[in-house]
Amino acid sequence: MYDDIVELAKRRGFFWPSFSIYGGFAGFYDYGPLGVLLKDNIIRTWKESYMEDGAIFLDSPNITPEPVFRASGHLARFSDLAAECEKCKSKFKFESVLAFNKQDIIPANLEEAKEMASDTYLKCPVCGSRITNIYDFNLMYKVSGDYYLRPETAQGIFVNFKLLFNYNRGKLPMIVGQAGKGFRNEISPRQSLIRLREFNQCEIEVFLDPENLEFKSLYDYKKIKMKPNTGEELDITVKEAFERGLISSQAFAYFVLKTQNILENIGIESSKLRFRQHDPDERAHYASDSWDAEGLIDNEWFEIVGIANRTDFDLNNHQSSSGETMTTKIEEREFIPYVIEPSYGIDRILLTLMAQSLETRDGKNVLKIPYPVAPYHFAVFPLMKKENLKEKAEYIYENMKKQDKYIVYDEAGTIGKRYARQDEIGTPYCITVDYQTLEDNTVTVRSRDTAEQKRIKIEELLDLDFINSYIYKK
Ligand code: GAP
Repeated sequence: MYDDIVELAKRRGFFWPSFSIYGGFAGFYDYGPLGVLLKDNIIRTWKESYMEDGAIFLDSPNITPEPVFRASGHLARFSDLAAECEKCKSKFKFESVLAFNKQDIIPANLEEAKEMASDTYLKCPVCGSRITNIYDFNLMYKVSGDYYLRPETAQGIFVNFKLLFNYNRGKLPMIVGQAGKGFRNEISPRQSLIRLREFNQCEIEVFLDPENLEFKSLYDYKKIKMKPNTGEELDITVKEAFERGLISSQAFAYFVLKTQNILENIGIESSKLRFRQHDPDERAHYASDSWDAEGLIDNEWFEIVGIANRTDFDLNNHQSSSGETMTTKIEEREFIPYVIEPSYGIDRILLTLMAQSLETRDGKNVLKIPYPVAPYHFAVFPLMKKENLKEKAEYIYENMKKQDKYIVYDEAGTIGKRYARQDEIGTPYCITVDYQTLEDNTVTVRSRDTAEQKRIKIEELLDLDFINSYIYKK
């Protein structure tokens, strides 16, 4: 499925490797015309969903001065264990050398990794020579002087905490979001959008009173897949997971459920979505607990959202380093707020959505992306390029566009080919103007998901509320 999606994405204009006329450079991808629409719709779903919980948003620079990352710990600790083959000069994440050599034990630090490489013959995955050169590799890009490209959007929010808190009239909980680019000098970029060097993040920082780590009440009914680091995968409600002590706070449980709901609304299948808790030695330097939302593609689980309990780690460090107070006072109590952070990787979500949505019908691709995030909602066609049919189809297209911009007009090729093209790019409905239209003002509406066709009156078509209830929800 993964290979099929990457091929479809390039051919149909969703995404493709960047700079290909110069041979391509690993870890960079462009979004084409349909990918831009799909990505924006995913981001809109994320944003509107957090607005329901009162989120406010920020847009801060990509280029960030060194003191920010000295304070946040990224300068000293945002690194991967890397390995270089001295013979063929290939570079790898140490983790992938271990996987290639079928080693299950992951060393906790550089010393342990070096010890392991001296005790065990670790083969280079490319040339088979012994790997001995292991080192720490900082993932941040230094741009010039004392500036770095941000590896996460979160620090922009932390350094602005005081201004945002004042804007929020000194109230907690406060939810702040930022959608933007993250940059990481990944040692081995891979699998198109999975591990990029420049990627799209939508991050949420929830600031809470550490003595009241609660948010809205938890629904009781919905079971989700959770894999705690202490045992097997469970089908469990977040309420139960919290009550059993698997999740550290009520607020954390709320944002796990929120993430499940957002991903489902985007179109990730609940049976192909789970939350996996990090082992203690797997956590980022700032986290006291982390759960990854993972999506399933071709029997492999990929992290698509990381949810971390960042405690007061970042605000505390920025307070000590900058001298600016991050301490707040609520009802005579002074404290530095705690942070829960659901961090969404939009590229991985988009890829997972496309891979999970692709089906074949009669040997042809059908991309069953949900209506709200599909690049186009409707395609309008004249049955043939005859003047009277074209005129009517253009009239319908222009009128519908006044109410819904996500509409495409197509008159090229046979009607069967046009249906197939729209099925493959995920357009839920095709509207065809034919000779009967000229007689009785009705058109054919064809559903992508069932290939069923219905005739309806043009006036009804232009009433989008009607078409949504009549066709979409059936
Ligand atoms: N602020 C926390 C943070 O950045 P993360 O788990 O490193 O946490 C969050 O990243 C999400 O960003 C991940 O779940 C993933 O979807 C996405 N992401 C991280 N690195 C990526 C990369 N190199 N390429 C594509 N997406 C990436």
